[in-house]
Amino acid sequence: MKILVTGAAGFIGHHLAEKLLKRGDEIVGLDNFNDYYPVEIKRGNAAKLAQYPNFRMIEADITDREYMLQIFEEEKFDAVAHLAAMAGVRNAVKYPEYYVQVDYNGTQHLMDGARHNDVGNFVMASTSSIYGATEQIPFVETDSCDRPLQPYSAAKRAAEMLGFTYHHLFGLNFTATRFFTVYGRASRPDMMAYLVADSITKGKQIPIYNNGEMWRDWTHVGDITDGLVAALDRPLGYEVINLGRGEPTKLIDFVEMIEELAGGKANMVNTPKIRADVVKTWANIDKAKNLLGYNPSISVLEGVSDFWEWYREEILEQTK
Ligand SMILES: NC(=O)c1ccc[n+]([C@@H]2O[C@H](COP(=O)([O-])OP(=O)(O)OC[C@H]3O[C@@H](n4cnc5c(N)ncnc54)[C@H](O)[C@@H]3O)[C@@H](O)[C@H]2O)c1
Repeated sequence: MKILVTGAAGFIGHHLAEKLLKRGDEIVGLDNFNDYYPVEIKRGNAAKLAQYPNFRMIEADITDREYMLQIFEEEKFDAVAHLAAMAGVRNAVKYPEYYVQVDYNGTQHLMDGARHNDVGNFVMASTSSIYGATEQIPFVETDSCDRPLQPYSAAKRAAEMLGFTYHHLFGLNFTATRFFTVYGRASRPDMMAYLVADSITKGKQIPIYNNGEMWRDWTHVGDITDGLVAALDRPLGYEVINLGRGEPTKLIDFVEMIEELAGGKANMVNTPKIRADVVKTWANIDKAKNLLGYNPSISVLEGVSDFWEWYREEILEQTK
């Protein structure tokens, strides 16, 4: 298949692109290499992908509507994995208009490109944070999700709903996969596992929200990309599907796992939870199991050990 992977220079996008390249798909990556976190990390991810002969990268911004339409017209993709986004809940509170522009309007440009050029399947990365402060736990896709707590989730939820409209009006196959706190090798440096590792090894002070009395359904990037590949292979009409592990872990326990592996202590400052944050995320993954044959197999301890091995080899050793 010829597949467009947006956000291919990012954390999850480059893992997905590599998995698809390894099985022989033709991949066109698209990324604007913005500096939300150090650009060298994204250049490094892209360089890894460039070693595959069946890969090409287009450096472009999804908010550029005309160019997006042109790319679709020229390339004629079979499927789209749309992962490009401004992520980060706390940053979204500071820049709401930018999040709506990228995560909602940018997504619409790609959907237009897809529907005008007979793209067979459009899979979009959505997020567990759209469940907001729901009382329905574990989080299940039948929840209305109409009370997002910050602009990132509101824009992602709106894009999911537009996906339904495009399916209804134009017959676009659209699946929104809602990821639950993804971690793993080559993680984003603003995410918890990386922050904790940096704090232990470099003494950097980090906030620990709500005394660590928060729970996240941490899901290893290997399981997430397996779910994404399954979603790309199965046009389903219109669906929203949770991709989590289905087993929340307490924040402080997650931190302690990394401390134990690293043989040190993180320099944490207790900080009250912000209004945009939720106390617990927990995925009901029955739908993913039934529709995608999804079966997350990496325990948090295994996943954290794998993350730590990468951090030790690639970050600590390189900065010595
Ligand atoms: N990491 C998680 O825990 C998590 C959880 C839920 C959902 N998601 C979603 O998964 C996707 C990938 O997240 P990630 O953690 O890999 O983040 P990431 O920031 O590493 O990857 C996103 C990529 O998109 C690119 N991008 C951003 N704006 C763009 C634009 N306007 N045009 C073109 N490219 C642009 C960035 O440069 C980046 O490389 C995102 O859609 C995110 O919302 C991630």
